[in-house]
Amino acid sequence: MTLETKLCGIALRNPVLAASGTFGYGVEFEKQLNLNELGGFVVKGLSREPIEGNPPPRLYETRCGMINSIGLQNIGVRAFTKEKLPALARLRTAVFANIFGYETADYVEVVTVLEGSGGIAGYELNVSCPNTKHGGIFFSSDPALLGEVVSAVKRVARRPVIVKLSPNVSAIEPLARAAEESGADAISLVNTFIALAIDAKTRRPRIGAGFGGLSGPAIKPIALRLVLQAARAVRIPVVGLGGIATGEDAAEFLIAGATAVQVGTANFWDPASPLRIARELGEFGRSERVAKVADLVGSLKL
Ligand SMILES: Cc1cc2nc3c(=O)[nH]c(=O)nc-3n(C[C@H](O)[C@H](O)[C@H](O)COP(=O)(O)O)c2cc1C
Repeated sequence: MTLETKLCGIALRNPVLAASGTFGYGVEFEKQLNLNELGGFVVKGLSREPIEGNPPPRLYETRCGMINSIGLQNIGVRAFTKEKLPALARLRTAVFANIFGYETADYVEVVTVLEGSGGIAGYELNVSCPNTKHGGIFFSSDPALLGEVVSAVKRVARRPVIVKLSPNVSAIEPLARAAEESGADAISLVNTFIALAIDAKTRRPRIGAGFGGLSGPAIKPIALRLVLQAARAVRIPVVGLGGIATGEDAAEFLIAGATAVQVGTANFWDPASPLRIARELGEFGRSERVAKVADLVGSLKL
């Protein structure tokens, strides 16, 4: 199976990208794998100002997943453009900047700063953040707030904008449609599921901040259901993620309707997993006599 494909007009060597927050700024992984062989990667979330993040412990391993509450620690968009972007700009792989903020103006400012530099193929908006101007309602749970931030970003962005949806909603379709109607070039889903782990002996949460986000193989069946529902609700491309650890997992997301996939938590036990998963996806396609990625996309028989 030919793995080369396109996402929002961006040529990808293969449809497997490394997910935001699990792959640093990419450059840290240069010793573990050849970054140019990746389909692409999404850098950790960037904000207007640097953020120190949450108190430890920030990670807790569950039976088949992981809970994290990093608190969106990052060096801030301006330090990113000076210190990280020059090395990223030399790569021949698609680099996406993941962006978050606490009000619409934050997102607009981060994108405006990045628009001044080369080396990025597109943006991914992390909308799983509380909106401080609207009493802490998450952008990702209110179609009107989501539409407002996406339209504002689209007014300043010349590169494709992917909107990353949260799974912590009762229905995904209205949010997927709000993103599309506001001009999103693609949507990606899922972000992590709000979760709690308790240490019964100390009777305290296992995560310093209390709640955290659950990711990894445990979430895959729910993520697949959400990807299918979102893909049926919109015409723009969908990027699927949530618990992908093998090439066959990736194939399942494509069959559910994703154009490309991302790999997050698997990078913690196998930093080269996006390359391995892409290779396994190619082998799967060959054994199933599938000619190209597009032949799998949305091919679920119901
Ligand atoms: C440690 C950690 C940090 C993360 N940081 C971000 C982030 O900065 N921005 C974002 O949009 N998603 C972030 N995520 C969510 C992942 O990109 C991904 O959506 C989620 O983990 C589900 O995929 P997975 O099961 O393959 O990990 C983070 C996840 C983890 C585990």
